[in-house]
Amino acid sequence: MTNRTAIVTGASHPKGIGRAIAICLARSGVNVVATDLQGSTGLDTIAAEIASHGVKGHAIACDVTSKQDIERVISETKLKFGAIDILVNNAGVGMGSANFLEVTDTDWNISLAVNLKGLADFCQAAIPEMLSQDNAGCIINIASLSGLGAIEDIPVCYTASKFAVIGLTKQLAVQYAKDGIRVNAICPGSIHTQMHETVLDMIANENNISIAEAQKLEDSNIPLGFTGKPDVVGDTVVYLASDSSRYMTGVALPVAGGMSPGL
Ligand SMILES: NC(=O)c1ccc[n+]([C@@H]2O[C@H](COP(=O)([O-])OP(=O)(O)OC[C@H]3O[C@@H](n4cnc5c(N)ncnc54)[C@H](O)[C@@H]3O)[C@@H](O)[C@H]2O)c1
Repeated sequence: MTNRTAIVTGASHPKGIGRAIAICLARSGVNVVATDLQGSTGLDTIAAEIASHGVKGHAIACDVTSKQDIERVISETKLKFGAIDILVNNAGVGMGSANFLEVTDTDWNISLAVNLKGLADFCQAAIPEMLSQDNAGCIINIASLSGLGAIEDIPVCYTASKFAVIGLTKQLAVQYAKDGIRVNAICPGSIHTQMHETVLDMIANENNISIAEAQKLEDSNIPLGFTGKPDVVGDTVVYLASDSSRYMTGVALPVAGGMSPGL
C-alpha cells in the first residue's frame, strides 16, 4: 500500500489499539498521521516509531470533539501528504457504571460526543477530500462487539454509542458506494489495553473477585481462549484498507476470538 496516507485517531498510547493500527499500516507501507488528545502519553514518540518502518509519520494533537481540531488535521494532512486515502476512527471512551440507574448525564454526553459525534464529524470533514481525489479512499470505524449485542457488565452509554457507530457505518457505506468510498467497521471483542483494564476492574467489582479471576472469567467466554493483543485489530485494519477487501463495504466485522456479542 505504498504512497497511501492514513489518518488514525486516538493513536498515541503505547498499549492502545490506535497505536497498533498506526504501526501495522506503517509496516504495510502507508504514511500515517497519528492523532490523539494534547499531552496524551506517547504522542511525542509515535511519529518516529512510524518512520522507523520506512514511511512518513506525523503526529497532531486533536480532540475529536473539536471541529476546529479535526479541520486542522485534514488540512495539515493534505498539505504534507497531498491526499487522505484511509481514515481510521479509533478514538473512544468507555465510561459509566454497569448499573443503568447510576449512569450520569456526563457519562452519556462524553460517550456520545467522542464515540459517535466525533467520529461522524471526522467522516464529514474527510469525505469531501476523498471525493475530490482520483483514488476514492476508505473509512474504517472501530466499533465494538458491544455494537452488535448487549454484553453483561458493559455500561449502556458505551453499548448504545457503538450500536450507533455501526448504523452510521452502514448508512455512509450505502451513500458513498457509488463514489467508490468503502466504509466498514471493526468490532473488537476483548483486547489487552488500558481501556480493557478498566473493564476488568468493573467485572472484578461487580462479581467481588480479583482482577486475575476476572481475566480468567473473561477468557472462559472466548472460544479461542485468550484476550487478543492490539495488533489483531491493526492487521484487520490493514486488510480492510487494502485492495484485498475491495468488494467489502458496510460490514461490521467481529475480531473477537469467536466471542458471542450476546443479546
Ligand atoms: N480494548 C478493548 O477490549 C476494546 C474492545 C472493543 C472496542 N474497543 C474500541 O477500540 C478503540 C480503542 O480503544 P483502546 O482499548 O485502545 O482504549 P484506549 O483508552 O487505550 O485508547 C483510546 C484512545 O482514544 C483517545 N481519546 C479519548 N478521547 C478522545 C478525544 N476526545 N479525542 C481524541 N482522542 C481521544 C485516548 O487518548 C486513547 O489514546 C475504542 O474506540 C474502543 O471503544 C476496545
